Amino acid sequence: MFFVRDPIKFPHFIRSQKRLPDSGLRDNHMQWDFWTLNPESAHQVTYVMGDRGLPRTWRHMNGYGSHTYLWVNAGGERFWVKYHFHSTLGWESITNDEAAAMAGVDADFHRRDLFETIARGERPAWTLKVQVMPYDDAATYRFNPFDLTKVWPHEDYPLIPVGKMTLNRNPENFFAEIEQAAFSPGNTVPGIGLSPDKMLLGRSFAYNDAQRNRIGTNFHQLPVNRPRVPVDTYMFDGQMNFEHSGSQPVYAPNSEGRTWADGEATPEESWAADGDMVRSAYELHAEDDDFGQPGTLVRDVMDDAQRERLIEQVSGSLLGGVRGEVLDRAFWYWTSIDPDVGKRIEEKVRTGSAPEPVPGMGES
Ligand code: HEM
Repeated sequence: MFFVRDPIKFPHFIRSQKRLPDSGLRDNHMQWDFWTLNPESAHQVTYVMGDRGLPRTWRHMNGYGSHTYLWVNAGGERFWVKYHFHSTLGWESITNDEAAAMAGVDADFHRRDLFETIARGERPAWTLKVQVMPYDDAATYRFNPFDLTKVWPHEDYPLIPVGKMTLNRNPENFFAEIEQAAFSPGNTVPGIGLSPDKMLLGRSFAYNDAQRNRIGTNFHQLPVNRPRVPVDTYMFDGQMNFEHSGSQPVYAPNSEGRTWADGEATPEESWAADGDMVRSAYELHAEDDDFGQPGTLVRDVMDDAQRERLIEQVSGSLLGGVRGEVLDRAFWYWTSIDPDVGKRIEEKVRTGSAPEPVPGMGES
């Protein structure tokens, strides 16, 4: 899941998790101010502040598409899909103390671990599983299925294993192959499409815009980014244009024999014409709220020890400079997630018995 469900909030969210305008320092007060003024963040904050926010290594971390995507099969049937990548090692976390020590001893620990593991010949792998929702269920499902502050409970839509992702080689050149890599949820292949999730639609523009600025106009022509098949595109020119289409027609459709994409055969955006589906995506569903799923996470998914560590982590973070009305709102926020957890966090903060906070939580 994610912290916000409206893309217009995204720049504000990111800035609130980064640095103060004057000192350039990270600031817990600013983080909690944003989170508590935007309570749809409660689910993701609970997740990040729990054990899963401190993975043992990147190999012990699961990955999630978070958004809902559309799948269209060869017969034209449409389904909504969520992606889950489960580490074959199982997920494992470290404690706050281990994290603090690690940050001091080797701040590159995670990058080093992944690189050295692959260099040794090991192959970190993730099982890809999907949850599949029939197209029409979306209109009436108890949660808005396009709201990425929510998860789809597994009992409603079970995980179906479909494949495996293996990391089988390291980059040879970090700048060329990592710094210049450009991923975007706006890049889809036939059969996979976007959903009416406004965040996903916002992202489908934002990444490519950032990449044109960050790397350059024709970033998609770099070896690390280009498709492995020839591409017949009608995008033209710009700085550092390397590939071109010679003297072929520069417009489509044309009568000169140059091919073009047949928009009629692209069913992926078909929901855009489906007014009921789009309207239902932007209306509240029966169980849409901000605190229900994070409450389930702390009560039913976490065990006693995990809940205890969550309380330590949150109170430590709050003791790291959160004050005044923001602190009061933080107590309200946690009491709304779970009255008992909220009470215990408030007690710890009021008596000041929490350990020193670990800086650096919550950056996207
Ligand atoms: C409206 C919401 C969002 C917007 C506008 C947004 C925008 C961006 C942009 C512009 C970049 C830099 C891309 C580049 O320069 O190549 C980025 C990086 C990234 N975003 Fe988002 N993002 C959003 C939400 C999300 C969500 C929900 C996820 C996870 C599911 C996510 C995961 C990432 C990751 C993993 C990176 C790469 C970070 C890195 O390379 O260090 N973002 N985002």
